Amino acid sequence: MFNPKAHNLLKEIINDLPSAIRQDEDFVFRLATNFSGLYQRFQDLYGSKHSFEGALGQLVTVLANQYNNRSEGLRLKDLERQDGQWFLSNEVTGMMLYVDRFSDDLKGLLTKMDYLEDLGINLLHLMPLLEGPKEKNDGGYAVSDYFKIDKRFGSNNDFHKVVHETHNREMYVMCDLVINHTSEEHEWAQLAKKGDPKYQDYYYMFNDRTVPDLFERSLPEVFPESSPGNFTFSEEMGKWVMTVFNDYQWDLNYGNPQVLIEMINILLTQANWGIDIFRLDAVAFVWKKLGATSQNLPEAHTILQIYKACTQIVAPGVALLAEAIVAPDEIVKYFGTSNIAGNECDIAYHATLMALLWDSIATHNCKVLTNGLQSMPFKVHGATWINYVRCHDDIGLGYSDEDIWRAGYNPHEHRKFIVNFFTGRFDGTFASGMPFMYNPKNGDARISGSLASLAGLEKAIEEDDIDKIDFAVKRILLLHAIIISYGGIPMLYYGDETGTENDYSFLQDDKTADDNRWLHRPKIDWKKQFENLKDERNPRAIIFKALKKMIQTRKSSPEWADHNSCRILDTGNDHVLAFERRLGDKVTLTLANFKDSDQWLPIDWVAENRLNIDNLYDKYTEEHINGISGAVTLSPYQFMWLTEEY
Ligand code: GLC
Ligand code: GLC
Repeated sequence: MFNPKAHNLLKEIINDLPSAIRQDEDFVFRLATNFSGLYQRFQDLYGSKHSFEGALGQLVTVLANQYNNRSEGLRLKDLERQDGQWFLSNEVTGMMLYVDRFSDDLKGLLTKMDYLEDLGINLLHLMPLLEGPKEKNDGGYAVSDYFKIDKRFGSNNDFHKVVHETHNREMYVMCDLVINHTSEEHEWAQLAKKGDPKYQDYYYMFNDRTVPDLFERSLPEVFPESSPGNFTFSEEMGKWVMTVFNDYQWDLNYGNPQVLIEMINILLTQANWGIDIFRLDAVAFVWKKLGATSQNLPEAHTILQIYKACTQIVAPGVALLAEAIVAPDEIVKYFGTSNIAGNECDIAYHATLMALLWDSIATHNCKVLTNGLQSMPFKVHGATWINYVRCHDDIGLGYSDEDIWRAGYNPHEHRKFIVNFFTGRFDGTFASGMPFMYNPKNGDARISGSLASLAGLEKAIEEDDIDKIDFAVKRILLLHAIIISYGGIPMLYYGDETGTENDYSFLQDDKTADDNRWLHRPKIDWKKQFENLKDERNPRAIIFKALKKMIQTRKSSPEWADHNSCRILDTGNDHVLAFERRLGDKVTLTLANFKDSDQWLPIDWVAENRLNIDNLYDKYTEEHINGISGAVTLSPYQFMWLTEEY
């Protein structure tokens, strides 16, 4: 669409650019193709302020400067990645880790690269590394300086070395960008505290409770136990500051275009450090409105579209991941709502799959899981998922009530059961977790706990029960077999590759005691780790070896690249999940038995799903499957990657 106002402004802007940039075709073309979209979005957000064209001009200056600073090497990579396929590949497998808890610091991380590579990891999500408050910083999600690596991890130079080393090994680096809030120690917050009106306008602040009370009527609470309410009184200013997460995390006011411009400058500065993927934190929350829950608002999407357009202009090889742990219908909107990918985030967490997998572990059946996956809205081509079993956060049961009803359960009772099951309040449960942020106002709770402990390994080892240990290990592998073959980037959580259990030491530390997500943020003891791995019968070694094999299998399975080819199948057996992945005439069926007893699928069912039953083969065990008895048999918690022998 031709917009004469935007066109004229663009002409002026381009004329004012330094000549080296003005003559750079890549930059100018990318700017020109994205400009009317940017103009429109600025107008939508800031049109009521007549200065929006000035702000847009300022933004383009930032883009030009950052492009100017982008190295030749990165610019080349941008061009190589223009087809946008790299993150769809079946060859990518990630691990997320806290650098200090995994390897002490960034230097230590360099010594663990061989270990990661041996497992098959080629994407590292390094959890927040930037400077934050010493005491409480929400695991780094409260940032005080976006340009400086926190001393706890090392120096900026150490970080650059890690990026360099990962790229030398043909691995990718992903980092967080905390865009919704800063720490109260950030320079902007400090200037605001001193009374500077410019910086007070970077946040939401109010002289009395009138507006905060109005907001509270509709804003949900994220941390009702440790940080109730959404506003914190600042003694220094005598004002109420919006703090949706913890009281030391001040929400940024995106109603002020200066905030957006600053944050885009930060993103691009870091993109020039060589980061391949940005995990945009808490994206659902970035726009606030009275009378609304202020999650997933259309304006939040507009903000993300601006982030994306700016990244496309300056650093198109960089991908954006939306951290939106929201209802399934809302998650897919973060890919953009048109049918072409690339105008909002490239990647999103499949929080629905994650939570549903845990549902199936507790119920031993796949009714809600299958319903939930079948009713997932369409994901645009070219966008992909991060598929995960556990991460540093709690497990929220945010899937749809309707899918629970259809499975024959009452959603409220069902969720209560799931939480009880994983937090040891259900008779006979194998899981040891803790309820996270129980909210007495609405009865909601989420779940904390490590994969191994939730899957039963902690209890089984305590009881020294070989059969239970075996089942727990099988559950851990079952869950991973699904995320590795589902379509999207499997993201392992550090420690899970060796079945690391809950770490209760957080209770002894004032900095962490009120947030039991620290239960599943273990410190790795490498001496023990290597000893365990040497003993082939040790459950930790069994898990590691199996995951390594799964990742290798994934790398040689082009049908598992994400071309939106995942089809969830009805098996007729409630305990078995099945999905098909296809590329051309190559098909693999993932079968997963969530029950602790043998399950059968009729061989005719397999035949209906277009596999040649005389030639069946499990890609994981590398064994021929004999369907002579008329059925394919899955042992307790067994998974199969069923295909034809080629
Ligand atoms: C995201 C992070 C979580 C953090 C929150 C606030 O949800 O994953 O750990 O507490 O944002 O930054
Ligand atoms: C918010 C975030 C979610 C995170 C949680 C932290 O709900 O959306 O990502 O898990 O905070 O507990």
